[in-house]
Amino acid sequence: MNDRSPPQGNIAAAPDWVRHRKLRDWVAAMARLTKPERVVWCDGSPAEYDRLCGELVAGGTFLKLNEKLRPGSYLARSNPTDVARMEERTFICANRKDDAGPTNNWIDPGEMRATLGRLFDGCMRGRTLYVVPFSMGPIGSHIAQVGVELSDSAYVVVNMKLMTRMGRAVIEHLGEDGAFVPCMHSVGAPLAAGAKDVPWPCNDKEKWIVHFPETREIWSFGSGYGGNALLGKKCLALRIASVMARDEGWLAEHMLILGLESPAGEKHYVTAAFPSACGKTNFAMLIPPAAFAGWKVTTVGEDIAWIKPGADGRFYAINPEAGLFGVAPGTSEATNPNAMKMLRANVIFTNVAITPEGDVWWEDMTKEPPARLMDWQGKEWVPGCGRVAAHPNARFTVAAAQCPSMDSRWEDPAGVPISAFIFGGRRSSTVPLVVEAPTWEDGVHMGATLGSETTAAITGKVGVVRRDPMAMLAFCGYHMGDYFSHWLKVGKAASRAPKVFRVNWFRKDANGKYIWPGFAENMRVLKWIVDRCGGRAQGVDSVLGVIPRYEDLNWTGLERFDRARYEEIARVDEKAWGAELQSHDELFGKLGARLPPDLEIRRGGMRQKLAV
Ligand code: OXD
Ligand code: MN
Repeated sequence: MNDRSPPQGNIAAAPDWVRHRKLRDWVAAMARLTKPERVVWCDGSPAEYDRLCGELVAGGTFLKLNEKLRPGSYLARSNPTDVARMEERTFICANRKDDAGPTNNWIDPGEMRATLGRLFDGCMRGRTLYVVPFSMGPIGSHIAQVGVELSDSAYVVVNMKLMTRMGRAVIEHLGEDGAFVPCMHSVGAPLAAGAKDVPWPCNDKEKWIVHFPETREIWSFGSGYGGNALLGKKCLALRIASVMARDEGWLAEHMLILGLESPAGEKHYVTAAFPSACGKTNFAMLIPPAAFAGWKVTTVGEDIAWIKPGADGRFYAINPEAGLFGVAPGTSEATNPNAMKMLRANVIFTNVAITPEGDVWWEDMTKEPPARLMDWQGKEWVPGCGRVAAHPNARFTVAAAQCPSMDSRWEDPAGVPISAFIFGGRRSSTVPLVVEAPTWEDGVHMGATLGSETTAAITGKVGVVRRDPMAMLAFCGYHMGDYFSHWLKVGKAASRAPKVFRVNWFRKDANGKYIWPGFAENMRVLKWIVDRCGGRAQGVDSVLGVIPRYEDLNWTGLERFDRARYEEIARVDEKAWGAELQSHDELFGKLGARLPPDLEIRRGGMRQKLAV
């Protein structure tokens, strides 16, 4: 802590570097409500990070990993009831139910405030209230937003330090009256005097993740895990930011941002929306196959993009985050060598397994699992014991700056210009490898009808298509019909809006095997997309849009993937598309009068083409 900090324990006082009256008053009011033992204003310094990690080790929340094998890194094991985002406990408390829309949970804001008042009264007893100022986006960027999270979890503080620009510099940027989003968080587990804490405090009876879109506030109670507790990410950067974006004419999207540079130095940036568990992080860090010598993929972001129209008619995107909270299982040298390099040091792992040597392991990290491990709950584990070693939603938290593929402009406050928007999902049939939308409106329709098959990690059910418009089903802070209208409006207003594409790496053949060889080979599709943006690549029209023929893609080094195999993945089966179109009715029907006419027209047009 800074030496000018007030004595810890003085609830009312703030350090003298906090000149923002409203912020000081709010913190004091929240301290009176939650009744912590002490208040700590976080300065975001490395010394503070180290001190808190040391306290987490001493308290049993963190295990320090082997300093030689995984320097500066820790393992946390959560309570088994607190392992993932909880969509069923997530609420958008708009003043009117209809403004939250049929895809969000809603409770009357007055009623919700009464419940929160009861829940937060004294909820931090025996604990420390940490004040965590953070900027989503480079501090001072015209696209960035500031939040202040009040949390009683030191685990949250150290994760926020890696995930955002956090600390005193943000308070200084706010000055005396800068705008910030208030984010209240409690694990909901007050400590009685003299009681010993548990390694992962949470509330196993009640969990609430609540957003008030009109007043732009976030309140989260009962969970210490990921998106439920690190409030800058899904809560602020998507649910609240999507409302800001609607009001101010920009887009807050669940999208990765990557750059693709040709050997001649020509560079394009694209964003891509995939529902959770579709390999977004791997795609954002792709290493092109050997045949693409001189081509480079660079990473700007891997989960969220804030996109603003520029004066030149193009869209400019920033990654509002400064770190990653990525899914560990499945990450390996084969799927994502850049991520494996990024994870060598200074990482917080949550719910992975630990080796006898004090290193981490998770499913598919190596071909052969180690002979002996402690699983994510600290129990002895051996291969074939019938349990997974890491929880399927086990995570790593790491600063983005450690990723070897970060783009030289990833922190550019002006953002990077976007050439294409890509929508992708996990579909074993029907959806072709890649298709380009003929117009912006068709592209919005493509995104609006995005669907993905569920995986065991998400729902326990496998292979059911879940409609996930723009991959924002769980993250849009207002009515989905209005969100589609907003997309249509923003695109129409831009003279050089990006082209829109749909991709699907997950199509299977008659034997249930993935057709596309995957991972690095996605480069072939990416190059076609970028070449289309540059007016250089060919394709043919289909009922969905423009699709590359076999000869329109570069197959160097992948000659075994012959024309017949390609036809299997590129085929548009019109009968299947008739059924697909009907399956869109369920979501569109729910949106009622708020479904924009432009999308109805697209549906009518497709019905006509497919004669259904
Ligand atoms: C995530 C998600 O954690 O989308 O990024 O679920
Ligand atoms: Mn995500």
